[in-house]
Amino acid sequence: MAREIDDVLALARRLAREAGAIQKGRYETGFRIDTKSRPVDLVTEVDHACEAHLVAALLRERPRDAVLAEEGRGTDTPGATYRWVIDPLDGTTNFAHGYPRFAVSIGVEREGEPAVGVVYDPLLDECYHATTGRGAFRNGQPIRVSRETAFDRALLATGFAYDKRENDDNLAEFRAVLKTARELRRDGSASLDLCYVACGRLEGYWEHKLKPWDVAAGGLIVREAGGRVTDRDGGPAWRSGGEIVATNGTLHDALLRVLSDAQRG
Ligand code: 2AM
Ligand code: CA
Repeated sequence: MAREIDDVLALARRLAREAGAIQKGRYETGFRIDTKSRPVDLVTEVDHACEAHLVAALLRERPRDAVLAEEGRGTDTPGATYRWVIDPLDGTTNFAHGYPRFAVSIGVEREGEPAVGVVYDPLLDECYHATTGRGAFRNGQPIRVSRETAFDRALLATGFAYDKRENDDNLAEFRAVLKTARELRRDGSASLDLCYVACGRLEGYWEHKLKPWDVAAGGLIVREAGGRVTDRDGGPAWRSGGEIVATNGTLHDALLRVLSDAQRG
């Protein structure tokens, strides 16, 4: 099995770099931008080009695997041992505006459990990866979460869902953390926020209403870097994407407490 995981990891890293090259090549060039569920929910032709490239390669090289991909090109292969969970371009609003914070995110599950995660930032040429039980890496070098133990010295990040105009969920939490942590960012790419927790640039990150492809790779990378990843109740439901809290571990309970106090008002 270890051999097959190595093959899957090598393929995921290669494909992430290929899709990243498509993104870098089209960054700040003219590309078509459409909307999906709402005027603020964007998709560009680059999202589609990246996903088409990734799914075509997987059909060719891993025809027995299942694929779940954000823009809908996935293949539901009954009985598949491996499932690839892909966000071809995470941080689409950033990409559309020329704001340099976006990535390719590729998670792979084996028998329904996270096995491999790869997140590639093509502008910084930073490739994060992890495999279950074998640690987390950036460009091949081991990474660890931050050692910070004080919430008031923590740098945190969050995000807001595309229904933010209709629902102001997360505003109370945003305010509570802003007032108690050292600083708070809203940077627009869930997979990179998770990788930044994994390598100690952030102490923690939380967000509501995500989807499996936003967290499949980054969640495993945080865990393998020594951090903790849960849902808002401290449980394992983060993988379905609904809500995720990821920290360096030492500050996890403190962040969960601030978030739940804020939610209760
Ligand atoms: P995207 O760029 O792939 O759409 C921004 O807060 C982050 O959360 C981005 O990673 C964005 O992914 C994701 N995101 C925001 N709202 C979302 C939603 N309703 N469903 C899925 N992902 C969402
Ligand atoms: Ca996306």
